[in-house]
Amino acid sequence: MKDALFVSQTAEKGGAELFMLDIIAHGPEGWNGCFFTEGPAERELASLGRQPIVLSGGAGLSGIRREASALKLIGAAGGVISLARALARAASGYRVICANSQKALFVSALASLIMRRPLVWVLHDIITDPAFSANTRRAAVLFANLFASRVVANSKASAEAFIAAGGKGDRVRVVYCGFDPAAHPQGSPEASATLRQRFGLSDAPVLGLFGRLTPWKGQHVLLQALKDLPGVQALIVGSALFGEDAYAAELRTLAETEGLAERVHFAGFQNDVAAIMAGVDLVLHTSTHPEPFGRVVVEGMLAGRPVIATSGGGVNEIVTDGDTGLLVPPSDPAALAVAVRRVLADPALASRLAESGRASAAQRFHIAQTCRDMANALKETG
Ligand code: UDP
Ligand code: GLC
Repeated sequence: MKDALFVSQTAEKGGAELFMLDIIAHGPEGWNGCFFTEGPAERELASLGRQPIVLSGGAGLSGIRREASALKLIGAAGGVISLARALARAASGYRVICANSQKALFVSALASLIMRRPLVWVLHDIITDPAFSANTRRAAVLFANLFASRVVANSKASAEAFIAAGGKGDRVRVVYCGFDPAAHPQGSPEASATLRQRFGLSDAPVLGLFGRLTPWKGQHVLLQALKDLPGVQALIVGSALFGEDAYAAELRTLAETEGLAERVHFAGFQNDVAAIMAGVDLVLHTSTHPEPFGRVVVEGMLAGRPVIATSGGGVNEIVTDGDTGLLVPPSDPAALAVAVRRVLADPALASRLAESGRASAAQRFHIAQTCRDMANALKETG
């Protein structure tokens, strides 16, 4: 029997799905992925020589948003049950089912009951965040308490929020996202020249902001800060992955109306973030809500670039302010502009932050350790 099937309702390449791809790619042979729809993450797993399972019938679930009402959730129940049956059939060769999201949790819990196999919930969210409806939060905690042998949280912040929301603490294990430092080239003059050519950038300093376009990732905060940063340009990498197209359009309008269009470059979704990061002068993180983990922060550190991130959530577990990066308060464009100016004006500080950041990230967030930690959590399920 194979060891673990990681289940995701989406096959977009969000951070939770990239985590799943990474651990399957670097973990034991007996780990595989299951998606409720076709998509880029599922295709990437297939290109790595794995054979991901794709269940049809999951499309209805993607219409349920995290702020969904009780009525909407109940309406979705029929779809959940038939999907759970399909999952139970598809997962019969696996010892443990690992739900990689909240929606996957509901389906996987029922499947694990049908199959009488242990369930693990891989928790990528701070579920006390007001963006989640009370109904979704209560249902998720209830399902986890009733059915999950282990809840694997992506940070202490996510773990603490789960427990604060009524989750059983003794079942929680923290497993950080992990990376292969060798896959993250370090910043260099060549990388900087290549980047400028690729995106048509000038010689002015480039601030890189990476992530899906959604209000809580705070791309608008960078645009506001840029007004106080003449002579500096921004490269915004990412797209509206989960239906946030209106925000993406607003950002473009904001750049135009604030007269920033010349200095702001929207690159859309890119598959080679590590290479792009190596070419920017600074990597920023601007989330307006506590970030559950923050892969882009670690990736910026691994690129050997100075990182300025907003404090809160998992980011405070990643960055030591003033040592491995700088932390600024969320939704504070003025503080962000001050921090950017400070680093750009002080090359010695920039190199010190970059070097300590890279060393710390390579040591603390290695994919091999992540796979070991996940394997240990899975072993505990018996
Ligand atoms: N990312 C990507 N291409 C893009 C923008 C982002 O591959 O154009 C990746 C980024 O490198 C990171 C992930 O998407 O690994 C985002 O993860 P993070 O934890 O920062 O945020 P999430 O979107 O999961 O909340
Ligand atoms: C989620 C979180 C993000 C985290 C990622 C991987 O998408 O929003 O903070 O880094 O999962 O765990």
